[in-house]
Amino acid sequence: MGRDLLRSWMEQAGLIVRFDDFGNMTGRRPGTDDLPALLLASHIDSVCNGGRYDGAYGVLAALEVVRTLNDHGIVTRRPIEVVNWTNEEGVRFEPAMLCSGAVAGRFERSYVYDRVDRDGRRFEDELRAIGYLGNEQNRPGPAAVCLELHIEQGPILEAAGLPVGIVDGIVGITWLDITLDGRTDHAGPSPMPLRRDALVAAARLVAGVDALARATEGAVGTVGRLIPEPNVINTIPGRVVMSADFRHPDLATLDQLVTKLERLAATVATESGVAIAIDRFWTSEPTPFPPALVGEIERACSDLDLASQHLWSGAGHDAKYVQTLCPTGMIFVRSRDGLSHAEGEYSSPEDLTAGANVLLLAAHSLAGSANQ
Ligand code: HGY
Ligand code: MN
Ligand code: MN
Repeated sequence: MGRDLLRSWMEQAGLIVRFDDFGNMTGRRPGTDDLPALLLASHIDSVCNGGRYDGAYGVLAALEVVRTLNDHGIVTRRPIEVVNWTNEEGVRFEPAMLCSGAVAGRFERSYVYDRVDRDGRRFEDELRAIGYLGNEQNRPGPAAVCLELHIEQGPILEAAGLPVGIVDGIVGITWLDITLDGRTDHAGPSPMPLRRDALVAAARLVAGVDALARATEGAVGTVGRLIPEPNVINTIPGRVVMSADFRHPDLATLDQLVTKLERLAATVATESGVAIAIDRFWTSEPTPFPPALVGEIERACSDLDLASQHLWSGAGHDAKYVQTLCPTGMIFVRSRDGLSHAEGEYSSPEDLTAGANVLLLAAHSLAGSANQ
């Protein structure tokens, strides 16, 4: 398992490995002083059929920073902790950033433990089954500062011809669970005027999410998950369970998008006779990163003579919740074709190295060298 491999690599790099009550894994490199740690964090979980860089790059680059410090005999004043956050993607157990959010106090432990996957398996049971159900005192930190290195997952750096980006913040995200209940019936004898086809109603909402996002400057929206029941060729779908994901840098605009979708759903329900329930079950507010730390990353880029630019992240990251625990910053590297959450996700070795060097320089500065 990926966790076991990461743990062995952490131990080979001399890190002291622990894992907490959410399975978050921490590899600690002691410093000379008893100070709060520098966290170098990301995640190794992935979406289904995802790419090989989303999350894993940041964790492995953090490990490489430790190995490089070791190779050069560099001791830092602050301890350094390499962190792998559990369930960042929120794909098996919704929502996203579940376990960094739990450590940040956004989610109660009982809420996390009771989250179930599509087969009805509980988070707590599954974590125990893989042997990574640890305890609360093993959580990462205490932390003074956190850096997350990540692929951009969008087209901005590639369009600008730049290898690295300095992240000013993360956009707001809101996830909806939508249940449509019509009437299951035979696909043949049932006259069209009498039908209450949940999938036809859902199709109007799918188109609605897309249209609302396109009509709102700076917004994005998609329906990534949609399950019709009973999902067989000769039966009118009586029920559909689907998702909606809206994102925008401004929370009020995000709220308006949801309101407009709710209005559309009310119209569709009246016209189709299909009952529609919308549960807005998760919202990650827009999160700007602290300018002082953004400046630290900018300095590291210029010290390396790396041309870079500032940008906001359209993807969610654990850094959003870690930012509530300590000043947090992110470094991006270019994504080919801006592609991510797909097997074709790719960043060049040159860009990945550039990003890792920015992480190394910023980490060395923030952890404080004890060698001089
Ligand atoms: O949904 C996101 O943006 C992240 O990949 N979890
Ligand atoms: Mn990620
Ligand atoms: Mn992702």
